[in-house]
Amino acid sequence: MLSQISPWERLPPVRLCELVDVELRTHALPSLFAGQRIILIGVPGAFTPICTKNHIPRFVELAPSLKASGFQQIVCIAPDNPWVMAEWGKQVDPQGRIRFMSDGNLEFGRHAGLTVALPALFVGECLKRFVLISNNCVVEKLSVEKSVFDVTCTAASECIASCS
Ligand code: BEZ
Repeated sequence: MLSQISPWERLPPVRLCELVDVELRTHALPSLFAGQRIILIGVPGAFTPICTKNHIPRFVELAPSLKASGFQQIVCIAPDNPWVMAEWGKQVDPQGRIRFMSDGNLEFGRHAGLTVALPALFVGECLKRFVLISNNCVVEKLSVEKSVFDVTCTAASECIASCS
């Protein structure tokens, strides 16, 4: 595994995938985020209880404030396929405030050194729970939970407090 990405490093040249209507759109980094200050939220899995009931709903709730404070995009990624990500997005964010993209090939997770294996839960290799702030494709801040079951430094409220 590559070492964990750090502040001041550039986002890796990897791809994420988004389902838009019935079409798969592959987005290349860093151009997806070029010229923008963005929040990239990484979670271990779509539809998992903590992500679905706690972590992501708070970002959905606070998305208007985060956007008002200058973040142009909020993107949530997980190692699930693009169809699962789209269905999950419809459930947790029916108004479409956040974009839900697949890192199903773990291109971002592995290049950024942000994966973990959870075989005891039959989750396999997945993303750590993290929040990455990028400004014009340069990492400004990275918060990573010590355990995927924690939502402390990656909470939306923390993001509002420290990044706006
Ligand atoms: C969660 O609830 O977010 C979760 C569940 C199992 C593994 C990882 C995360």
